[in-house]
Amino acid sequence: MRIPLVDLKTQYQGIKEEVMAEIGQALDGMQLFLGKNVQAVESNFASFCGTEFAIGVGSGTDALHIAIRALGIGPGDEVVTVAHTFIATVEAIVLAGARPVLVDIDPVTCNMDPAQVEKAITSRTRAIIPVHLYGHPADMDPILDLAGAYRLKVIEDACQAHGAEYRGRRTGSLGDIGCFSFYFTKNLGGYGEGGIITTSDPDIAKTCRMIRDHGQNAKYYHAVMAINGRLDEVQAAVLKVKLAYLDKWTEMRRDIASAYSARLPSSIIKPREMPWGKHVYHLYVVRTPERDQLKEWLESKGVSTGMHYPVPVHMQEAWRRYGGAECSLPVTEKTVKEILSLPIYPELTESEVGYICDSIIEFSESRIGLPIKR
Ligand SMILES: Cc1ncc(COP(=O)(O)O)c(C=O)c1O
Repeated sequence: MRIPLVDLKTQYQGIKEEVMAEIGQALDGMQLFLGKNVQAVESNFASFCGTEFAIGVGSGTDALHIAIRALGIGPGDEVVTVAHTFIATVEAIVLAGARPVLVDIDPVTCNMDPAQVEKAITSRTRAIIPVHLYGHPADMDPILDLAGAYRLKVIEDACQAHGAEYRGRRTGSLGDIGCFSFYFTKNLGGYGEGGIITTSDPDIAKTCRMIRDHGQNAKYYHAVMAINGRLDEVQAAVLKVKLAYLDKWTEMRRDIASAYSARLPSSIIKPREMPWGKHVYHLYVVRTPERDQLKEWLESKGVSTGMHYPVPVHMQEAWRRYGGAECSLPVTEKTVKEILSLPIYPELTESEVGYICDSIIEFSESRIGLPIKR
């Protein structure tokens, strides 16, 4: 059996006619930027998250970069975030001219440890960017309390967490701004690049719209030097179709995660859903000190796996080049050596999940030399 980490072809076959019809209409209209599909995605996604506004942009990286700039954060400012994330979270801070300050994670959720944040706050700190990694929300209340106490802004990096919830509220609606990626492998992905910003603040929304479109407030009148960070109509046409399926796909991911968690042996640490959170399982990440051996074993059984991410930002070459400060992040450093992402996508079948679990049970049996009850 061969099981990929992600399979997008099967999903595409199921929605092909709808997608092609929408793309066809977008091309027939030849209004390819900031037209009715972008408007529809913006309004539908704002309702989905429970925010007043959503602003379609070119990628999740653009969303973060524009969000930081829209809050007036730049050179001389510091932004607190985590090193255990995709590099774009930190890149966006650097792109805006500010200085990233990296803190450690909670060992259970793998998200920002709120207890570490206060120690990282200085007189230059302007914002905190928690990342809802793997599709599980960060513990937002203590982060929002700190932001309130120190008058800081909160930008959620929800690039992996479309539809995830914190105490009944959806990610993207918890801080001042939410940032999402529509990269094609995400729970909601286009067939190219895309992203979106969510907020309920009309001024922030207006500024984000301006920054994504070369700082224009009217055609060829530019209020600020900005970027080309627009979402295009063809991607928006695809996203409009897919957004209608997202809740259903999320429930399918959650069922798969439950099946994994019920069958995997106790020697493997499984992802936990905290009582205050709803996980959307963008990734199903297990942990074991024998990660590399398990990865190799699964490859030999035809099962593809991933590592999200093998090298934390503070240990990347890019961090040194930017004069990054020395940081000691022991939980992050231990976690990255143990994490392994198993295949997860709505169309993964029960028998495939069974095969993956059986392969992991066999691995564990081979390590301990004893049979495990199935
Ligand atoms: C946590 C996180 N932040 C930011 C991004 C950047 O999104 P994009 O690839 O759309 O620029 C990603 C996407 O991979 C991500 O996973």
